[in-house]
Amino acid sequence: MARHLITSAIPYINGIKHLGNLVGSQLPADLFARYMRARGNEVLFLCATDEHGTPAELAAAKAGKPVADYCAEMHHVQAEIAKGFNLSFDHFGRSSSPQNHALTQAFAGRLADMGLIREVVEEQVYSNADGRFLPDRYIEGTCPNCGFDSARGDQCDNCTKQLDPTDLIDARSTISGSTDLEVRETKHLYLRQSELKDDIATWIGSKHDWPLLTTSIAKKWLTDGDGLQDRGITRDLDWGIPVKKGADDWPGMEGKVFYVWFDAPIEYIASAQEWVDAGKGTDWERWWRTDKGADDVTYTQFMGKDNVPFHTLSFPATILGSQEPWKLVDYIKSFNYLNYDGGQFSTSRGRGVFMDQALDILPSDYWRWWLLSHAPESSDAEFTWENFQTDVNKDLADVLGNFVSRITKFCRSKFSEAVPEGPDYGPAEDALIADLTTKLAEYETHMAAMEVRKSAADLRAIWVLGNEYLQSVAPWTTFKTDPDQAAMQVRMGLNLCRLYGVLSSPFIPDASAEILAAMGASDATWPDDIASAVTVLQAGHAFTVPEITFRKITDDERTQWAEKFAGTRD
Ligand code: MF3
Ligand code: ZN
Repeated sequence: MARHLITSAIPYINGIKHLGNLVGSQLPADLFARYMRARGNEVLFLCATDEHGTPAELAAAKAGKPVADYCAEMHHVQAEIAKGFNLSFDHFGRSSSPQNHALTQAFAGRLADMGLIREVVEEQVYSNADGRFLPDRYIEGTCPNCGFDSARGDQCDNCTKQLDPTDLIDARSTISGSTDLEVRETKHLYLRQSELKDDIATWIGSKHDWPLLTTSIAKKWLTDGDGLQDRGITRDLDWGIPVKKGADDWPGMEGKVFYVWFDAPIEYIASAQEWVDAGKGTDWERWWRTDKGADDVTYTQFMGKDNVPFHTLSFPATILGSQEPWKLVDYIKSFNYLNYDGGQFSTSRGRGVFMDQALDILPSDYWRWWLLSHAPESSDAEFTWENFQTDVNKDLADVLGNFVSRITKFCRSKFSEAVPEGPDYGPAEDALIADLTTKLAEYETHMAAMEVRKSAADLRAIWVLGNEYLQSVAPWTTFKTDPDQAAMQVRMGLNLCRLYGVLSSPFIPDASAEILAAMGASDATWPDDIASAVTVLQAGHAFTVPEITFRKITDDERTQWAEKFAGTRD
């Protein structure tokens, strides 16, 4: 039994995530966690909400709430939706937790002790009326280049010119509208990442088995410069983790907080501490400290491609720079983007289907199956309602759902609601067992390698084999001439139902549980070998016909939903 630490990139707190976010991190991480558990491994699967930074402040202001209240509410909302999608986190933490405060401050203190922090005096816009420094996106004014009157402090959205806040004509605060702004000096902490460049390059260079998407982004950032320059890890904001050197004050840094991208990945560790403090676990160091047993943990991270630089360079710089025995990531699985119906999903514009809306219209398994079987691995992928309808109807309703309902109903009508007797399996069954054995091995290989789409294709192929078997032995025809032989074929069919319940559970946990319950299966362990797995349900074993496991999406629904989600959400 191996031990697997699995984390998904922690979603920003500001708003409900769309399906593109889901398929790029949390959902494939859940697939892997479920598979690893099903194979008997010990798994710790962690996620959290990413609660700091200006976007959280802005969203809270828009909602008219104090930012701490807003975050507490949104954390709850996101946690509930995660449950709705059956995301099997062992803990869903908060980057604003006391544990993360202490740990982030401890990391900063340690990095300072290691000589990896320098103080830099910068100039930044200060608003007298608001009594605070303004981040770039809190400043608006007229673009010096094109005259557009709502250019932001960092960029003009009209002519796209990159700007400095001091370039703006008639600059004003977007908080109060005040033009009483001045440039003031402010001190910040910089992490001397440049000192760690060689270590990180060597480490990344040793990861020969990482997906190309991950290593190509990491190497591009390493060689094209920007990636490992020293970076500011503090901000002049109210909301965030106060800058401290461990438990001590940091002279000159009063009133400042750590930059959100400094504290967010540290939450991966803090989330494990929260898990223990919540009474759900007993020992987090076993997972995170290589001097406390974590050296035999395999740590896998899941994320969208935009997150790769932070996970291949910045967070490892924090870990390596500390020279403490923290567990470094072993494998980074990254994803391209999922697009929505000819454009992009967009949180700011509310374009596409969001997680809560998805669950309002269909159970989670429909979404899980479609999203995972179309995961944007080798390139960007696209969600269209036509494709969603076609594939869900075909794979789930026609192939899997139909198989289960056909065989259970046939048995009930011709025999009873118990597995019928009949002779031993014959040549047709042996051939089926051989084919299933081959496919199962492929499925296991792809699942272990986190080849999400290929795994989905293998699972579908396993379902198809059952359908082809039923089609060819046709127990409904056999029954007319040889009921005994038909009984054996039905016994095989019912055993396949149980087997499908087991093998499908990482992808579609609810439907799998329903199938297993209907089959009265007490044994849901992953099969060692197919030949014995298809004899688990013996003659006389009682079962029930499951409620319709998957229904078809109608053309009407498809048109309705396409229209409903064509605009933007309010
Ligand atoms: N909140 C970020 C995003 O959604 C991800 C943060 S991942 C972590 O893009 F490493 F910082 F935790
Ligand atoms: Zn402009």
